[in-house]
Amino acid sequence: MALQLLALRFLLVLLYLLPAQGQEEPDPKVQGVPWKTEMCQRPRWDSRLRLAPDQENYKKNEEVMLSCIDGFQAPFTHVKCSNQVQYISYGKPVFQEVWLGKDSSSKWIRIRSSVECIDVLQVVPGTLEVSSTSIKLNWTCRLPDACQQVRARCRLEKNSSLPCEAEEVKGEEMLHGQEGTFTCPPLQPFTDYSITMYLPPSTILFTWVARTEETVPDKPEKLWLDPSTGSLRWKALPSCKGEIIGYQLNVTARSAQDGSFLEMERLRLSSSATEHPLPERSPGSSYAVAMRGLTAAGAGAASLWEFQTDGSDTPRPLDISCRGVRDISPSRGTAVLPLRPVARPPAAAREHQLIVVATHNGTAVEGACSGDPQPFNASRQPGPYVAAALNLTGPVDFVLGDGAHGQGYRNAALRPGRDYTALLRLVRRSQQADKFTCVCYSFSLVAGQPPGPWHGTVIWVVVLLALLLVSAGILWFVLCRKRKSLPSKAKEDN
Ligand SMILES: *[C@@H]1O[C@H](CO)[C@@H](O)[C@H](O)[C@H]1NC(C)=O
Ligand SMILES: *[C@@H]1O[C@H](CO)[C@@H](O)[C@H](O)[C@H]1NC(C)=O
Ligand SMILES: *[C@@H]1O[C@H](CO)[C@@H](O)[C@H](O)[C@H]1NC(C)=O
Ligand SMILES: *[C@@H]1O[C@H](CO)[C@@H](O)[C@H](O)[C@H]1NC(C)=O
Ligand SMILES: *[C@@H]1O[C@H](CO)[C@@H](O)[C@H](O)[C@H]1NC(C)=O
Ligand SMILES: *[C@@H]1O[C@H](CO)[C@@H](O)[C@H](O)[C@H]1NC(C)=O
Repeated sequence: MALQLLALRFLLVLLYLLPAQGQEEPDPKVQGVPWKTEMCQRPRWDSRLRLAPDQENYKKNEEVMLSCIDGFQAPFTHVKCSNQVQYISYGKPVFQEVWLGKDSSSKWIRIRSSVECIDVLQVVPGTLEVSSTSIKLNWTCRLPDACQQVRARCRLEKNSSLPCEAEEVKGEEMLHGQEGTFTCPPLQPFTDYSITMYLPPSTILFTWVARTEETVPDKPEKLWLDPSTGSLRWKALPSCKGEIIGYQLNVTARSAQDGSFLEMERLRLSSSATEHPLPERSPGSSYAVAMRGLTAAGAGAASLWEFQTDGSDTPRPLDISCRGVRDISPSRGTAVLPLRPVARPPAAAREHQLIVVATHNGTAVEGACSGDPQPFNASRQPGPYVAAALNLTGPVDFVLGDGAHGQGYRNAALRPGRDYTALLRLVRRSQQADKFTCVCYSFSLVAGQPPGPWHGTVIWVVVLLALLLVSAGILWFVLCRKRKSLPSKAKEDN
């Protein structure tokens, strides 16, 4: 009897199992459940999801609340388990376990994919923009209205590896809408700041530290002449607006004895330099110094100073008193320059350039001495040009404007009626410095009355003679009046 019962049970189990056989392997995501079940398994969704109540199995139609860790949000707040007919097998419906989610209009819709927690706020990749004075970024809110509480703020990041103190910033705002741009208030260059997006009180959604870009440095403030060494010294610039990578120092020196002599240096100094010897000069030399600092962003504004080696506080203006020339011929457009080698150094550099500037303006002449004048070009007149290159070893009389060609230069004829300055220039270039030494000659190509060294003298003699004549006239006049008035005075006395 017991055996019969056992056999019956076995048969029943077999019958129960039979419909499941012969069907193909079900989709692994969809759990085919034979007949109708009253329970669902806990769904295998995102591990960051929290289910309430938290169980292994849920009853059919039992509502389950979903939530995520802070800063993330689930696409549904409520879900429930349900069954749907998947297919009919041997005339019987086969049910499938499904989950339904409540959408924003409280309708239950079938969830077909995995449910994931999504970060509410996204900083759009590639929109972080950093300049020297601002940091900004674009954000989007992935779910409508989910970012209402989110705030964004900027803060100064203390970083002891940066050399300068910076002020705190107080930028903070609430995000509005679906997307937007958050911009930090005006910031200081070359300083670290953090941008944080957070959900009060303390849930950080996004944080990022950025250093503002470098900018050009301020003017150097302190530079002085050290009388004991004859060197220029300066106070190093702080790396506040960017790391100081070097200095530009331009020195223009003029000797008190010879006003036609001009020495100019264009120096590129390293960031560690704090002094530079002045070009050696006689006592009373005047110096004009210009200096600027450099960062990766470029050169800052220049500071200008003037000095004199005799220590006087009031520097004389750097006068140009150029040498004279001979045999000026306005008709032929020539003048003869009595050249002497500029260089005292016996150096290999003997090649001098002869530069012509059609002006007596000191600023323009200095510019030509340290500039990069090109060969003569008629369409660029009246600009400075190189008329010739010559190897000078001793004094030479050079005819300027004779039309000769050589070394790629043209000694073009001078134009009548113009003022001219000619510069005999010696250039020495190295990696750190360009040094220009110039001697100037000045003259005017005035037709009919070529001014020479004697020309001024003649004018002076004429002026003196005229003055003498006038004085003699006045003296004679005064004497005459005195003689006339004497007798009348005597009468009155009587
Ligand atoms: C950021 O958004 C603004 C408008 O909101 C847009 O004009 C700008 O181009 C965006 N920036 C980037 C880098 O996409
Ligand atoms: C400070 O600056 C240095 C140098 O740029 C950088 O390596 C470091 O990460 C910064 N430290 C902080 C706390 O920002
Ligand atoms: C020095 O001279 C060069 C060439 O003339 C110029 O470009 C530069 O700005 C000058 N630097 C300063 C500090 O004046
Ligand atoms: C000299 O030339 C400079 C520019 O090269 C100009 O600014 C200045 O006004 C000129 N001075 C005179 C007196 O013409
Ligand atoms: C002269 O200057 C003009 C204008 O600057 C230029 O077009 C021309 O090529 C120059 N001529 C020579 C020979 O360099
Ligand atoms: C000056 O001498 C140098 C070297 O001896 C030579 O290369 C150069 O061409 C000469 N220049 C002139 C203008 O003769």
